[in-house]
Amino acid sequence: MSLRAKTNELKRRMNEAFQGGGEQALEKQKASGKMTARERILALLDPNSFQEYDLFVKHAGQDFDMDKKYLPGDGVITGTGSINAWPVCIFAQDFTVAGGSLGYMHAKKITKIMDHAMKMKVPLIGINDSGGARIQEGVNSLAGYGEIFYRNTQASGVIPQISVILGPCAGGAVYSPALTDFVFVVDKISKMFITGPEVIKTVLGEEISMEDLGGAKVHAEITGNAHFFAESEEECFEQIKRLVSFIPWNNDKKAEIFPKKAPKSRHYKIESIFPTNPMTPYDVRDVIKALVDDSDFFEIHQHWAANIVVGFARIDGQTIGFVANQPMVLAGVLDVDSSDKAARFIRYCDAFNIPLVTLVDLPGYLPGIDQEHAGVIRHGAKMLYAYSEATVPKLTVILRKAYGGGYIAMCSHHLRADFVFAWPTAEIAVMGPEGAANIIFRTEIKASDNPDETRKRLIEEYRQKFANPYVAAAYGYVDAVIEPSETRNFLVHSLALAQNKTEIAPKKKHGVPPF
Ligand code: HXC
Repeated sequence: MSLRAKTNELKRRMNEAFQGGGEQALEKQKASGKMTARERILALLDPNSFQEYDLFVKHAGQDFDMDKKYLPGDGVITGTGSINAWPVCIFAQDFTVAGGSLGYMHAKKITKIMDHAMKMKVPLIGINDSGGARIQEGVNSLAGYGEIFYRNTQASGVIPQISVILGPCAGGAVYSPALTDFVFVVDKISKMFITGPEVIKTVLGEEISMEDLGGAKVHAEITGNAHFFAESEEECFEQIKRLVSFIPWNNDKKAEIFPKKAPKSRHYKIESIFPTNPMTPYDVRDVIKALVDDSDFFEIHQHWAANIVVGFARIDGQTIGFVANQPMVLAGVLDVDSSDKAARFIRYCDAFNIPLVTLVDLPGYLPGIDQEHAGVIRHGAKMLYAYSEATVPKLTVILRKAYGGGYIAMCSHHLRADFVFAWPTAEIAVMGPEGAANIIFRTEIKASDNPDETRKRLIEEYRQKFANPYVAAAYGYVDAVIEPSETRNFLVHSLALAQNKTEIAPKKKHGVPPF
């Protein structure tokens, strides 16, 4: 056969494989508002950058007449490409082929591209759209999942792992995304659950729709399983491109340095954002925007545990991880979910050489039976652990309240912050003036002729004495009390100083964090 004939034969085979599950299945995919697996890859990666592997892999199913079926690419597309010219490894499950179900060779394709990502030390992106374990392939499908989970764990903290849920992701299949660093969901398209509505109805008699059980909003707002929520697949891909621009390729590298830009000071001015009344809430994201390059803040977990804010921004071109109490939501208290959210983010930043800036304004931990019984002790401990363990540069700015355990947990010097700055508005004490006065002056207030007057006077006395940054500064727990307008300068200076920070952790196999 001539070269031309052989090339034509290749083209014919490729074309056949590109048809996926056929016209009917493709129509169904479109009708449900979804792109095809191939369209998704091409929309996410840089133009002409995608190279596909294992297109001609054949499935290994023998039973239930599976040996007579042709499943193009065995229901998953794998390959390499680039985003913003940075290399990535990628797989996308093709729901049009046997529901994107995971059989032996399907799993082999995924684990092969995962192994490439680890060997080349580049990010891994997985697009999930699958009915789960391929029922006809039995234990081989389960083995496939196990091999993926193992690799997810080995790759954790070495390369960034991004999961995109663009269809069903059910049963044990959800545990691969859950083991990765960032999970993206799209409204009305993503569905994640361990047991579906039918099983729940059979076992518990409870009725719920798939959307209400495990839709995108549920995971972005209630469970926290998803870090990013988008209205459409296109918006989701833009979010991924943005995320990738902030993080390094692997744990040996630092994030790319961008050209320096000043904050948009016309829109974000600390003096106009920060209220004079210490009881008035404000949006801490505006304070972050007043401090960072181009006022560009990329928030993670925006819709979940909103009493703490985490995300990436740049200062003098360098990626920074921000952790900030949000006075606008629950007065910025720490609770079970916000502790989990912050702890996970801190560990991500530490693993990938991203300095941390912590902004503090919280009255403490959320009191309540619910919180205590939900394990706020164990969850709160995660944050202490994550900050104490982190060796990246850690800078803390106390804006206003820093009371009780919240003061310690929000990256105080005691958890080895490198620098702690406080605004003159900072209040650092065991508890707020009202609570403190009611306890320590209880007898005096009770015995007074005018208890209300006396309480007010004693609260004010306490406020004058302790609700300020100067007591902590007198012990060196605050390195400098600074004017708010000087904050960016102090951060720039300290970050430059911390470029070559080295801190040696005690020798151990690994710690035992309060997971
Ligand atoms: C084999 C599957 C499949 C599966 C779907 N298909 N899921 N084939 N194994 N797990 C096939 C269907 O037979 C159908 O083939 C095609 O994919 C499209 O599926 P539909 O049901 O027509 O699609 P839709 O109506 O959109 O429903 C999607 C779905 C449903 C909700 C995902 O297919 C479903 O409930 N599937 C089973 C889900 C499940 O229980 N999976 C096992 C989870 S347990 P044809 O040929 O008719 O087009 C698990 C364990 C993992 O994954 C453990 C890891 C530790």
